[in-house]
Amino acid sequence: QHFIAIVPAAGVGKRMQANCPKQYLHINKQTILYHTVTKLLSHPLITKVIIALGENDQYFSTSGLANHKDIIRVNGGAERVDSVLSGLKVVDSHINPWVLVHDAARPCVSLEDIDKLISQCLDTNCGGILASPVRDTMKRGTFLQDGLSRIDNTVEREQLWHALTPQLYKTDELTFAIEQALSKALKITDEASAIEFAKLPSLLVLGSSENIKITNPDDLALAEFYLNKQLVK
Ligand code: CTP
Ligand code: MG
Repeated sequence: QHFIAIVPAAGVGKRMQANCPKQYLHINKQTILYHTVTKLLSHPLITKVIIALGENDQYFSTSGLANHKDIIRVNGGAERVDSVLSGLKVVDSHINPWVLVHDAARPCVSLEDIDKLISQCLDTNCGGILASPVRDTMKRGTFLQDGLSRIDNTVEREQLWHALTPQLYKTDELTFAIEQALSKALKITDEASAIEFAKLPSLLVLGSSENIKITNPDDLALAEFYLNKQLVK
C-alpha cells in the first residue's frame, strides 16, 4: 500500500509578518516548503506529493521542487480547505484509497510519527490525525479587549488535544465530507473537522509536540532547533 500526500501551501502567512509567504522562508539554506516536502517523500510509503500553491506564487519555480518527478502542483484556494479540495480533485481513489494531508508549515514532523499514524489507521480501518495532549490548564474566557479576557471557567484538560498533521483519511470519505461541509458553509479548519461534521469516526494518534506549525516569527528558531536535532539522530 502506497500513499499520496496533499500539502496545502497557498497561505500568505499573515501572522509571520515576513516579506514572503512563510513556507518560503529559509531554515538551514532551504525553504520550509522544501524541508516539508522532502521529508514526506523520504518516507518509504509516500510516493507522491501534491502541492497546492497560491495563484500568484512567484517562489515555487525556484524552490528546487518545481521539476521533481514525484511532485504534482495544483492551484490552491481562498481557505486552507479549498486548497486541500483542489488537491483531492487530482487523486484517483482507486489508485490511492487513502490520502494524507500535511501542512507546508510543519517541516518538523518525524517519519516515526507518520509511521504511527499510518499503522494505527490501517489497523483499525479508520481515518485519523496526529495530535499532542494539551499540557497547560485550559481556561475559557470572555473577550474584554485585545490581550485581555475574563475567566469563565476551566476546561477539562484530559480530553483536549492539539490537532497536528498529517491527517489521514479515505480519499472518497474526505472528499465527500469536505464537499458536504462547504455546501453547508461550515467552518472547516482541518480535515478532521469536516469528518466530524459528516459524523464519521476518526482517531487521535499521539504524536510529538515538536511537530509545530510555524506560525509566528519566534517559531523559526524553534523549528530550526528541532530540525537540527533530527539530523543528529
Ligand atoms: N493554506 C493554504 N491555502 C490557504 C490558507 C492556508 O494552502 N488559503 C496552507 C498554508 O500555506 C499552511 C497551512 O495551510 O501551510 C496551514 O495554514 P496557516 O498556518 O494558517 O498558514 P497561513 O494561512 O499562510 O498563515 P496565516 O493564517 O498567519 O495567514
Ligand atoms: Mg491561516
